[in-house]
Amino acid sequence: MRNFISVKDIPNLRQALDVAFSVKQTPFGYQHLGHNKTMVLVFFNSSLRTRLSTQKAAMNLGMNTMVMNVNEDGWKLESELGVIMDGDKPEHLKEAIPVIGSYCDIIGVRSFAKFQDRETDYSEKILNQFIKYAGVPIVSMEASTRHPLQSFADLLTIEEYKTQKKPKVVLTWAPHPFVLPQAVPNSFVEWMREANYDLVVTHPKGYELAPEFMGDVKVEYNQKKAFEGADFIYAKNWSSYTNYGQILSKDFSWTVDGEKMALTNNAKFMHCLPVRRNVIVTDSVIDGENSIVIPQAANRLVAAQAVLKMILEDI
Ligand code: CP
Repeated sequence: MRNFISVKDIPNLRQALDVAFSVKQTPFGYQHLGHNKTMVLVFFNSSLRTRLSTQKAAMNLGMNTMVMNVNEDGWKLESELGVIMDGDKPEHLKEAIPVIGSYCDIIGVRSFAKFQDRETDYSEKILNQFIKYAGVPIVSMEASTRHPLQSFADLLTIEEYKTQKKPKVVLTWAPHPFVLPQAVPNSFVEWMREANYDLVVTHPKGYELAPEFMGDVKVEYNQKKAFEGADFIYAKNWSSYTNYGQILSKDFSWTVDGEKMALTNNAKFMHCLPVRRNVIVTDSVIDGENSIVIPQAANRLVAAQAVLKMILEDI
């Protein structure tokens, strides 16, 4: 594998899961792969899980790591092509990216949607410049439209907890006070489709995800109906794709609570974190015995290590 941007970069999902289970069992068993190799993690946006789990994954594989918080540690970087650079950004990505690439063997990059316009965000302008100019493999640590390391960990977690071959997995929108990207839900849908689970997406009208991600996935606008018989409830807020970047609802009747969880098939509760308690989900659900958000977050390390192992084997 060269780059890890979406599920499509994984040649065989079953084999990738086997790699993940293998590194989970033997985290320090592949240190020869990363010996004398370096990963640079470039963050345009904040992170707790992605930053720590990806750095730890690289270290488990014997790699050296360097972390750069672009907006705090370095020069402000210009990403527009053909601009007159007489503003506040003294360096262009076209120089910065190959320079970073010359110091390392793999680059991880996090660059969220900016919500200025949909076309720009969905063209993945920054991520694609990294792929074009780095000269080394690129791992997406969440871009404008996808969060593949999160989705790989989500899949791994469902595989560990499922009690039937094809579980019913429900992705539910939940309220949030601020504008959030569609990257996690887009990516989750993409990976769940690839895994061939029984996937249902539920959200208020106006929150339809991009057709290229949804394909023929079932949308159920009645949240309680969607929850019936579910084996996994995955809660997430996202802003509108059609009215791009807008908050159309803050309706707390969409908060995941015990009454709704009681409609499920004793479903496990999942969220990618960070999560706003008693907005997205009630305390009783997230603190309850069916909440698997902590093992889900712990699997971020496993997913990242599996991805880095597959890339290092092909360098
Ligand atoms: N889920 C996730 O990506 O967490 P961070 O934003 O803290 O990295």
